[in-house]
Order: sequence, then structure tokens, then C-alpha cells
Amino acid sequence: MKVIIGSDHGGFNLKSAIIQHLEDKGIDVKDVGPFDTDSVDYPDYAKPVAEAVQNSEYDRGILVCGTGIGMNIAANKHKGIRAALVHDTFSAHATREHNNSNILCMGERVIGTGLALDIVDIWLETEFEGGRHERRIEKIEQ
Ligand code: RB5
Repeated sequence: MKVIIGSDHGGFNLKSAIIQHLEDKGIDVKDVGPFDTDSVDYPDYAKPVAEAVQNSEYDRGILVCGTGIGMNIAANKHKGIRAALVHDTFSAHATREHNNSNILCMGERVIGTGLALDIVDIWLETEFEGGRHERRIEKIEQ
């Protein structure tokens, strides 16, 4: 699976932890930045991640800011993107099974690193259920 990740300054530390975690598991991750904690604007990093998932260059995207909210709003402006703001493991399962979410958004200022990494693992490993959920996603696209 090809994964692309981005953050702003508020999500930089959690982004770094996620990249390390995924690389330790042998999953290659493309990092669009930022590469330090200088203040930046989250839409500038949501855009390249959303576009790369939108055009199927990458299978899944992960976006981290202080709350995850700005990244979530920005990513969902892109057609074909189903970005999910997730801070618990139940929702990590459910949004993959029901929404086929293709971008995961989290807030570094909201949850601890341990929970965030569990959420990443669950979200990457859980399959979409299809069936009635496919019809609902199609209605969103329309
Ligand atoms: C940056 O201070 C903060 O606004 C940003 O990281 C994010 O929380 C926005 O939704």
C-alpha cells in the first residue's frame, strides 16, 4: 500500500512519529512536509496529499494538524476524497468499513501518540464492507 502524509507545524511531531512507525513496519511513506516546526498554513499541505490520493498516485493519505479539523475541512473539498477525522479506535474501524475513507485526519493536540499509532494501524488494515455502504458513498459523489 502506498501512503502519503502531510501536516502543519501543529502536527509535525505526530507526523514524524507516524512515519517512523510505518517505516518500522516496512510501509513506505511519502512525506510532503513540512520538515521543521516553523509556522505554515495547513491547506498548503492538505492539497498535495488530497490530489495524490484523488489521482490514485497513492492509495491512502494521512493529515495531521493541531486539531485535525482544518486538514479535514480542506481535504474534503476535493472530489473523490473521503477524509475522516478520527480520535478513537472504534471510529477508525467504522470509517473504513462504512465510509471507505481514503484520508485519515488527526490532531496532535487532541490525542497521545500511542493512541494515534493504534488508530493508524487499524485504519490502514480495515477493509471497506461495500454493499449498502457503496450506494451511500455513490450518493455523496453525485
Ligand atoms: C495551527 O495553530 C492550528 O490552527 C492548526 O494546526 C489546526 O488545528 C487547524 O485546524
